[in-house]
Amino acid sequence: MNEKELVISYREYQNKEDIDEEDSKLVNSAREATNNSYAPYSDFRVGAAILLDNGKVIKGTNQENSAYPSGLCAERVAIFYANSQFPDAAIISIAISSQTNRFESKEPITPCGSCRQVISEAENRQDSKIRVIMSGDGCVTRIVEGIENLLPFVFQEDKLKKTTK
Ligand code: THU
Repeated sequence: MNEKELVISYREYQNKEDIDEEDSKLVNSAREATNNSYAPYSDFRVGAAILLDNGKVIKGTNQENSAYPSGLCAERVAIFYANSQFPDAAIISIAISSQTNRFESKEPITPCGSCRQVISEAENRQDSKIRVIMSGDGCVTRIVEGIENLLPFVFQEDKLKKTTK
């Protein structure tokens, strides 16, 4: 038996002024998007903004449904829309933000497991890493360079292939 450790890395910004201008703009777009969220059940409004390598910014919001599992997270709405509209464009960064009237949240929002899996698929599809920028109501913003930092031991396409010994 070997005890092993996996290291993930992220950058944490205490002051919004220290964030790159391009990242800061994307965070603002994600924050703006929260106003278009459809979240009558959770009242947890999530916005995602994607910067594509063709310069376009795609926004998405969570879309809830009275049959709860039929809804979809903001990140997946944005990624699926981006890949549908611009299938050849690579995603450089995705910024996520959230708002709710139900409580005060100081921590930045982090993508759920299913959204991490979808970000991983998008990375494989475009063969380059995606930066994930997580922000919230509070002052802390966290940035990871690539989904491996949020989804260790990810399930990827190679697992579907038989390995030869
Ligand atoms: N939600 C997102 O849109 N993104 C996440 O990363 C986490 C959760 C949404 C789903 C649901 O509409 C609401 O937030 C509460 O879970």
